Amino acid sequence: MRRTPKNTPSSEMVMAVVFVVLLATTKGVESRKARRENAGGEYFEYCAISCRAKSASLTDYGGVGDGTTSNTKAFQEAITHLSQYKSEGGSQLVVPPGKWLTGSFNLTSHFTLYLHKDAVLLASQDESEWPVIEPLPSYGRGRDNTDGGRFISLIFGTNLTDVVITGDNGTIDGQGEVRWQKFKKGQLNYTRPYLIEIMYSENIQISNLTLVNSPSWNVHPIYSSNVLVQGITILAPVTSPNTDGINPDSCTNTRIEDCYIVSGDDCIAVKSGWDEYGIAFGMPTKQLVIRRLTCISPFSAVIALGSEMSGGIQDVRAEDIFAIDSESGVRIKTAVGRGGFVKDIYVRGMTMKTMKWAFWMTGNYGSHADNGYDPNALPVIQNINYHDMVAENVTMAAKLEGIPGDPFTGICISNVTITLAKKAKKLPWNCTDIAGISSGVVPQPCEALADQGPGNVTACNFPEESLPIDNVQVQVCSYRREHW
Ligand SMILES: *[C@@H]1O[C@H](CO)[C@@H](O)[C@H](O)[C@H]1NC(C)=O
Ligand SMILES: *[C@@H]1O[C@H](CO)[C@@H](O)[C@H](O)[C@H]1NC(C)=O
Ligand SMILES: *[C@@H]1O[C@H](CO)[C@@H](O)[C@H](O)[C@H]1NC(C)=O
Ligand SMILES: *[C@@H]1O[C@H](CO)[C@@H](O)[C@H](O)[C@H]1NC(C)=O
Ligand SMILES: *[C@@H]1O[C@H](CO)[C@@H](O)[C@H](O)[C@H]1NC(C)=O
Ligand SMILES: *[C@@H]1O[C@H](CO)[C@@H](O)[C@H](O)[C@H]1NC(C)=O
Ligand SMILES: *[C@@H]1O[C@H](CO)[C@@H](O)[C@H](O)[C@H]1NC(C)=O
Ligand SMILES: *[C@@H]1O[C@H](CO)[C@@H](O)[C@H](O)[C@H]1NC(C)=O
Ligand SMILES: *[C@@H]1O[C@H](CO)[C@@H](O)[C@H](O)[C@H]1NC(C)=O
Repeated sequence: MRRTPKNTPSSEMVMAVVFVVLLATTKGVESRKARRENAGGEYFEYCAISCRAKSASLTDYGGVGDGTTSNTKAFQEAITHLSQYKSEGGSQLVVPPGKWLTGSFNLTSHFTLYLHKDAVLLASQDESEWPVIEPLPSYGRGRDNTDGGRFISLIFGTNLTDVVITGDNGTIDGQGEVRWQKFKKGQLNYTRPYLIEIMYSENIQISNLTLVNSPSWNVHPIYSSNVLVQGITILAPVTSPNTDGINPDSCTNTRIEDCYIVSGDDCIAVKSGWDEYGIAFGMPTKQLVIRRLTCISPFSAVIALGSEMSGGIQDVRAEDIFAIDSESGVRIKTAVGRGGFVKDIYVRGMTMKTMKWAFWMTGNYGSHADNGYDPNALPVIQNINYHDMVAENVTMAAKLEGIPGDPFTGICISNVTITLAKKAKKLPWNCTDIAGISSGVVPQPCEALADQGPGNVTACNFPEESLPIDNVQVQVCSYRREHW
């Protein structure tokens, strides 16, 4: 038996031992996996809100993963066929390794779409493979300000329940370049498609995928409830137009966690409809949890609330957020004519590096759907809480601009340390038409945020009680098959 060394091992030694153990573990897993594959079959496990009785592969429906053959029909036929198992334990469609070119297809209930880690869905450039659908009722028109319809998303679902879109980090490539150029040149006939849009649905999971180069927004759950978004990587050039990451829109009970987003617009944009259309539809986004998000968004916000918020936004809880090189940390965007509300917003535990503004509120965002908006429809912005944050290399701590005659109230900022950049603005805080309190904030906030002294750093409380979506659990599901 070895004698215990007299000196405690150096941290390098500990690291080396840990590394070797990890390596051995990984090798073990890999060799077990390899043995399974050598035996001619395929087996894997994943976590989901529900498992399925029936399994199929895209190749069972004539799918060809060569990167040039269109699989639109294969997807549509597969899902139409599998939809018959709705009431018999549900079904899962597996996309094997390969490059699968496809236009839009629709999902069904009690259904899982699973992308193998080496599967890439390539969005077709052929516009005939993308049906044009009605504008969203809460928007009145296409968001790209095109009259008439909008291209349906690549993966679309409406009026569904119990849907899982997941994979072992498989990829969905929106091949957005052509549409970004058309948008920039004003050549779009219809609003650009999103990558994933789920409407009027409940019990949705979108997880463990990488989404790249979306033509526009990436993940858009709308008019839905009980939505779980986990482990999504979103990558788009930071100069690509409106490539928002995840946009919960008129949704109740949504949980977004463990996501990494680098994009050309807001990483998370919380929405609820646009001007008179959103007011008439009247469906808020509420009970939203955002946690463990990493974001890089040089020209936009880490978390934006609005600008389309006419149905209201209430009870948003964001924590453990890491932002690098972004324009603003949390941003509220609204305008006269939006109506609606943004209230009971709680953000804590945010670390920001290289920011233009840590906090930004804009009451004159404009960007109206049309000239039919009601100039008397004033948004209500109240009870906005930010605490326990550190920001470095910041050009301006905050620009908080309410609406004259309609101040944003109940703003609470505590225990926040902002280190300004060398080339910072002279005035670190600029506040107009806002009111609230602060405690333990550096640099000294504007007078509109009345300083409570250092003893009130625990003001701006984060809610204690959990939301129903916090309690949603996933289970281990498996897939076994002789051949792809
Ligand atoms: C998908 O659903 C939408 C809305 O119901 C419909 O307009 C579209 O044609 C469907 N797509 C296919 C390929 O069936
Ligand atoms: C989907 O649900 C909405 C809201 O309940 C309803 O208005 C619409 O007619 C439904 N659409 C379909 C295709 O069932
Ligand atoms: C998934 O893939 C992306 C892109 O290759 C990578 O950046 C990310 O780290 C991967 N995520 C996991 C959990 O492996
Ligand atoms: C788009 O609109 C232009 C005119 O603005 C027209 O020339 C072109 O044919 C349209 N393209 C499609 C695919 O409808
Ligand atoms: C999916 O991602 C989560 C993190 O979001 C991770 O814990 C889990 O292991 C991943 N599962 C698979 C099957 O990759
Ligand atoms: C202040 O915030 C930091 C994180 O930025 C946290 O570690 C610390 O515990 C907080 N202090 C108090 C008194 O809550
Ligand atoms: C600080 O921010 C500026 C841009 O405002 C950037 O050029 C510089 O590299 C950053 N410095 C550090 C130390 O991150
Ligand atoms: C502060 O903000 C107001 C409203 O946006 C603006 O008019 C004013 O010029 C700003 N002041 C400074 C010093 O930047
Ligand atoms: C600030 O602290 C004092 C004393 O600790 C307390 O009485 C007061 O209610 C606090 N104010 C807020 C807004 O938390």
